[in-house]
Amino acid sequence: MSLPTLFQGRLRIPAIAAPMFLVSGPELVIATCTAGVAGSFPALNARPSSQFDMWLGQIGDALDADAAPYGVNLILHASNVRLADDLALCVSHKVPFVITSLGHPGKVVEAVHGYGGLVLADVIHATHARKVAAAGVDGIIAIASGAGGHAGSQSAFSLIREIREFWDGLLILGGAISDGAGIRAAETLGADLAYLGTRFIATQESRAQPDYKRMVVDSNAADIVYTDVISGANANFLMPSLAAAGYSRDTLHPAAGKAVLKDLAEEAKAWRDTWSAGHGVATIHDVPPTGELVARLGREYEAACALPPSPALRR
Ligand SMILES: Cc1cc2nc3c(=O)[nH]c(=O)nc-3n(C[C@H](O)[C@H](O)[C@H](O)COP(=O)(O)O)c2cc1C
Repeated sequence: MSLPTLFQGRLRIPAIAAPMFLVSGPELVIATCTAGVAGSFPALNARPSSQFDMWLGQIGDALDADAAPYGVNLILHASNVRLADDLALCVSHKVPFVITSLGHPGKVVEAVHGYGGLVLADVIHATHARKVAAAGVDGIIAIASGAGGHAGSQSAFSLIREIREFWDGLLILGGAISDGAGIRAAETLGADLAYLGTRFIATQESRAQPDYKRMVVDSNAADIVYTDVISGANANFLMPSLAAAGYSRDTLHPAAGKAVLKDLAEEAKAWRDTWSAGHGVATIHDVPPTGELVARLGREYEAACALPPSPALRR
């Protein structure tokens, strides 16, 4: 276990509400941080950059010293022409932690360490984890199979154990964790924190349209399709939303090759018209206020911590 001071004693449950394109904004970040889960959002959800500046101000004003820390997700892919501006705003607002995706985090590490912030890099396999570790990140977010968004295809059991063989820093696990038992299981596997996305789509404070939230509640894991057809990189989507947009299951196979992401405008259109979610939809049955959800996750987590050893053990 290796938990940086930033998170120590600041959380109701050991979890981060993961950044979600078009879904997480200041309302969800403020609600999660106030309830005791570290909140985050993608900088690209605020358009243009001047709105990102406003959101950071709004979040900073709303959170007091007792709130959980918040973070911002920066996409490092070449298609993100706003990266330098958004990074400069993270520096001027001293964003407590920055989550990097899809690229080498070297420059972000330098800038964020300059004001004492943390950099967490998300990865879907151990090879990439070694690269971000060498770049000096403070934490690695392992995104396993079944996650919402650009998920990996490796089992959480194998991915987290593989990374723990060479990384003893902050390690975070994401992928189909939707309840307190899953959060506890992530810790048992060697993670310090769990990373929950899909569960927070179906909250009152998420920016997802009501029909999207309803589809998350009504779907089960068999409705999730892993494909590169929508975004250019493999991601998990809700089949009913793909069907409504005219796609048929037969044409949606995942790609084995290198991902070629679409540009931002195309990507925004794709994710607005077709909806992403992970296998965690299987046990999501409601759209509660975030505070109520976090209290429930806390009770489930405590129950999972109190489990006795298996009665199958020899005495
Ligand atoms: C609708 C949606 C949008 C997402 N957008 C982003 C994003 O913009 N940046 C990012 O780093 N991850 C994004 N993700 C991935 C999440 O940050 C996180 O890795 C994932 O949701 C964890 O798995 P879970 O959804 O099974 O809990 C997205 C996930 C979803 C469901």
